[in-house]
Amino acid sequence: MKYLLLFSIFITSLFSMEEGAVLYASCKFCHGLKAQMIYVDKIPSIKDMDLETLELKLKLYKEGSIDAYGYGPIMKQQMKNIPDEKISVLAKYIKNL
Ligand code: HEC
Repeated sequence: MKYLLLFSIFITSLFSMEEGAVLYASCKFCHGLKAQMIYVDKIPSIKDMDLETLELKLKLYKEGSIDAYGYGPIMKQQMKNIPDEKISVLAKYIKNL
């Protein structure tokens, strides 16, 4: 029974990694395969911020309420395709890259 439970946790986490990869696919172009890229010499690597900050920023971009470097609308457009309930999956995926 215990093993079955562990196994299902393992499968669930595998699945959310897969899901994260799908969600992150569109971000690679600007933020890099490992979220390490410095975009237009201005936007710092998004991997280095802590998980809470990352999640919060993604939510705020989606709402259109931040514009930290003058490119907020670009990020708003990007976040339009990410459902609210998937933001935390995406943020965790980025931290694990
Ligand atoms: C077309 C290029 C582009 C794509 C694609 C893109 N971003 Fe961004 N991202 C930017 C720009 C430009 C900024 C700076 C926005 C601003 O002025 O606040 C930014 C900012 C961010 C920040 C905040 C950085 C900081 O230091 O405050 C995070 C987090 C982020 N993006 C995550 C993502 C995620 C997750 C995706 C995929 C859903 C994504 N981005 C897709 C260009 C992009």
